Amino acid sequence: MATPLFHTNLTVKTQSHDYPIVITENSNASRLNNSSGNSTEKSSMASQIAPYIIGRQVLIVTNETVAPLYLNALQKALESQFTVKVCVLPDGEQYKNQSSINQIYDALMVEHFNRDVTLIALGGGVIGDMTGFAAASFMRGVNFIQIPTTLLSQVDSSVGGKTGINHAQGKNMIGAFWQPQMVLADMSTLKTLPARELSAGLAEVIKYALIMDADFLTWLEDNLPAMMALDLAVLGEAVKRCCQYKADIVAQDERESGVRALLNFGHTFGHVIETHEGYGNWLHGEAVAAGMVQAAELSQKLGWLTSEDVVRIKRVLVLVNLPITPPAIDVQTALGLMGHDKKVKHGQIRLILLKSLGEAVLTNDFDAELLTQVLSQHHS
Ligand SMILES: NC(=O)c1ccc[n+]([C@@H]2O[C@H](COP(=O)([O-])OP(=O)(O)OC[C@H]3O[C@@H](n4cnc5c(N)ncnc54)[C@H](O)[C@@H]3O)[C@@H](O)[C@H]2O)c1
Ligand SMILES: [Zn+2]
Repeated sequence: MATPLFHTNLTVKTQSHDYPIVITENSNASRLNNSSGNSTEKSSMASQIAPYIIGRQVLIVTNETVAPLYLNALQKALESQFTVKVCVLPDGEQYKNQSSINQIYDALMVEHFNRDVTLIALGGGVIGDMTGFAAASFMRGVNFIQIPTTLLSQVDSSVGGKTGINHAQGKNMIGAFWQPQMVLADMSTLKTLPARELSAGLAEVIKYALIMDADFLTWLEDNLPAMMALDLAVLGEAVKRCCQYKADIVAQDERESGVRALLNFGHTFGHVIETHEGYGNWLHGEAVAAGMVQAAELSQKLGWLTSEDVVRIKRVLVLVNLPITPPAIDVQTALGLMGHDKKVKHGQIRLILLKSLGEAVLTNDFDAELLTQVLSQHHS
C-alpha cells in the first residue's frame, strides 16, 4: 500500500468511551469501486475500521450518490470478515427524516441483526446524523462508525455524537447524543466532492477560526486557495485542527450545557435560511456562512467587532465562493423561526456573537431592535 500523504490520530474523550479520529489520505481509496485495483488497494478503508467492529454483523448506510463511488470495495473487503448488509438511502437533506430512519430499521430487522451489529455511516453529515440516530435507538443503542466523505462531515458532524433528523417545522429537532466507535476521515474522498459542497464545508472550517482562534483565521487566509485547489495535505491539516478544537470542546461539554453551544455560531441565523428556503436549496454551510455574517454584523452593532473585522470575515467567505447575504425573509417570519431554535431559553433568543475575532459568547444581552435591524438587511 502506498504511504499516505497525510496520517494523524486524535482522541475524543467522552463520558461513554474514548474513540479515535483517524485523518488520512489513502491515495488508493479514491474510487474504490475500480474493480481492476488489487485487493490490498481496495481494502484500505476496511482495514482501518475493522479493528473497531465488535461482533460479526455490519450494516453500511450510505446514499445513492456515495454508493457508486465508495461502497463496493468497502463492502467487498469487509465481507471477508463480517456479515455485511447495505442500506442505500435517497440523497438529500430533505430525506433526513423518520422515513429514512425506518428504512434503516427495516434493513436491520429483515436481517435479524441484534445488539452486536455495527452500523457504518458512509457519506456526508446527512448520512452520519441519521445512521448515528438509528444506532442510538435500535435495540436501545448499538455501535456505529463514521466514515465522513464531505469536508463538512470531516470537520464537524462526524465528531461529537450529535445525531438526529429534521422535523418539517425545524432542523435537527429529533435526535440523541450517541458517540461513534471511531471516525475515519479519508481526505482522498474529497476528490469527488462537488466544488459547491467543498465550499460549504469550508464555512464550518472558517467558523472554528472565528470562534476559537484568530491565528487560525490568518492561516486560513493564506491556505484557503490551496484547499480550494484540493491540496489534500493542506486540507488534512485543516481537518486535523478543526477536529482537535471539536474534540477539546466535546471533552469539556459533551451535552452542550455550555461551551459546546459556541459551535453553533452563525447557525441560529442559518437555520432560519435553511428552514425558510426549504431543506436542500441552500446548503447547510452556505446558510451558516450568511448566518455568520449576520451574527458578525450584530456583534459590530454592539461595539465588539470593528467594521474592518466584518469586512475581513466577508472577504474570507467570498474567497471560497460562499454567500454573505441571506435571501429576503420577512423579519417577523425570521423571528418566528428563531423562536423554534434550540438556543431559545425562557422565550428569549440567545445568540452566539463575537466579542472579538477568535472569541465567541452565547448571550441574550442585546437590544431586540438591533437584531431586527440585522434581519432587515438582505437581498431584495
Ligand atoms: N451532528 C453534528 O454535530 C452536525 C454538525 C454540522 C452539521 N450537521 C448536519 O450535517 C448535514 C450536512 O452535511 P453535509 O454537508 O456533509 O451534507 P450531505 O450529507 O448532504 O452531503 C452533501 C452532498 O455531497 C454528496 N457526497 C458526499 N460525499 C461525497 C463524495 N465524497 N463525493 C461526491 N459526493 C459526495 C452527498 O451525497 C450530498 O449530495 C446537515 O444535515 C447538518 O444538520 C450535523
Ligand atoms: Zn453546522
